[in-house]
Amino acid sequence: MGKDVIVALDFENREKTLGFLDLFTEEKPFVKIGMELFYAEGPAVVREIRARGHRIFLDLKLHDIPNTVKKAMAVLSALDVDMVNLHAAGTAAMMEAALEGLTRPDGTRPLLIAVTQLTSTDQERMERELLIPHPLEEVVLRYAENARRAGLDGVVCSPLEAGQVHDRCGADFLTVTPGVRFAGGDAGDQKRVTTPQRARALGSDYIVVGRPITRAGDPAAAYRRCLAEFVG
Ligand code: C5P
Repeated sequence: MGKDVIVALDFENREKTLGFLDLFTEEKPFVKIGMELFYAEGPAVVREIRARGHRIFLDLKLHDIPNTVKKAMAVLSALDVDMVNLHAAGTAAMMEAALEGLTRPDGTRPLLIAVTQLTSTDQERMERELLIPHPLEEVVLRYAENARRAGLDGVVCSPLEAGQVHDRCGADFLTVTPGVRFAGGDAGDQKRVTTPQRARALGSDYIVVGRPITRAGDPAAAYRRCLAEFVG
């Protein structure tokens, strides 16, 4: 388990996505399919990318009552993906139901990862809008602990938080970390960025990389550079 680069397929449709994947002639990257592509193309695009031999993180961030999430997870599990996620804010009951739904008749299941507080939520909004009067970092770690207790496999977090999450939740509790940029690269809208090498040193298990690979002149070369820096 662990230490891999996940390429974020943030494309609007099947054609652009498959055109991008065609650039990888030698390797089969682990890829992330998010809401944009899934809502545009539905489960068919997931099956198609799977059939091409890619491992898939389906990033749909479920959050609903436990019974609904359980049933939705059963559908996603049947798509034969490798990793899915939900919002830890849905509580332990929802996370436990999700695990039940995900588990296939043969006992196998995709990895289940929790989103803690989105990085778009800051301290002020959390206190003023959500009435949560605690340091954001503590809230993130509490959500991670809740996810761990509910039996989940890990959380999405910043590489800068990976060490603390491992300290609280154990070395085998996975940290899946976006916000990665090459040294000297364009940060775009990401505020706190880390190089693949630094993410490795900080203890990230999987880095999620979008634009540094999707917008590179040679995406396959950028992917290989990322792998070399992160996995070694
Ligand atoms: O292009 P970039 O490398 O910034 O893409 C990062 C990917 O990780 C995007 O798909 C983005 O939605 C996702 N993500 C993130 N920050 C989070 C959670 C997910 O950037 N906190």
